Amino acid sequence: MTRRSLLAGAPLAAAAGAAQAQSGPRNMAISSSNGMVCCNRVLQMLNAGHDTLDAVVAGVNMVEVDPEDTSVGYGGLPNEDGVVELDSCLMHGPTRRAGAVGALRGIKTPSKVAKLVLERTDHVMLVGEGALRFAKAHGFQEEELLTERARLAWLTWKESLGTDWGPGLDAPPDQGNARLRELFPDARPEWFAWAREVATNPPTGTINCLALNAKGEMSGCTTTSGLAWKIPGRVGDSPIIGAGCFVDQEVGAAGSTGRGEENIRICGAHTIVENMRHGMSAEEAVLDAIRRVARNYDNDRARLEKFDLFFYALRKDGQHAAATLWDRSANSPKRRQYVVNDGSGSQLADASYLLERG
Ligand code: GLY
Repeated sequence: MTRRSLLAGAPLAAAAGAAQAQSGPRNMAISSSNGMVCCNRVLQMLNAGHDTLDAVVAGVNMVEVDPEDTSVGYGGLPNEDGVVELDSCLMHGPTRRAGAVGALRGIKTPSKVAKLVLERTDHVMLVGEGALRFAKAHGFQEEELLTERARLAWLTWKESLGTDWGPGLDAPPDQGNARLRELFPDARPEWFAWAREVATNPPTGTINCLALNAKGEMSGCTTTSGLAWKIPGRVGDSPIIGAGCFVDQEVGAAGSTGRGEENIRICGAHTIVENMRHGMSAEEAVLDAIRRVARNYDNDRARLEKFDLFFYALRKDGQHAAATLWDRSANSPKRRQYVVNDGSGSQLADASYLLERG
């Protein structure tokens, strides 16, 4: 194996240091990097004495209803038919209960429905039409989740496929973009370049949030619109207990964002909690999970370059870490980061990583 083909003891060691030891349980939350407002909300809730699960759900709800986050909830990028399908799961440490929904359409806040599955059924996961019927039975309103921005991105992708969608053979050469601008008169100028980027490189996004309180209670939640342009009915890791999220408050909690297919194949969140149970630090635990993903591709850098995956871990003593496959995204010089709020406001911390982009 050459240094370029992987595997990265040295870059990995150089990247270490994001994990931080805490002296013991305290009110705190960590999340993926899109969770600044989420973690602030979680801390407000924890400081007011709310349960850890109520706190993480209230936190991720803020991202689910935000149309600016195109990877979660309302405004998320849709499936190949232009329909937004949402996945979520959560676990409550004190009771060890779990709830999940997969491929849920028409409801902005799948995490709330997952919580109802936990509370109001004898099941753990509901999917598709059944999940929607269950949500409506509990008073949720069915709504259109596809925003104009997400529809622009979907149409851009659809027209990029070389099928009959888009300007025909007889169209004037410059008509494509001009016509698209006419079709989306309210679009912000920067949306068009962004739409071309996500059409070419379908993102996975997602938010994972993990919380601990001063009593040592923990909960976690993951929620997503999943892989853009997915086959209808595809569910990723986010609604799968043990992959997208896992909590055992006698040990800690873990979750994931990024390409769910890779996480499912190593049961990432459960693997990380078990790693910590067997004595690993939070950082060692998440990096071990990343290494397992790389091993599934025989550490072949060329194939690993096609995706990224993030793991997050919060130990019962407050130690936390995140790790990614790659140090940064293909088109950014910035290190991958995650959000930590240990009572002094949400802040970004560097994630550890396995591989450095050349
Ligand atoms: N991790 C989000 C997904 O793959 O759907």
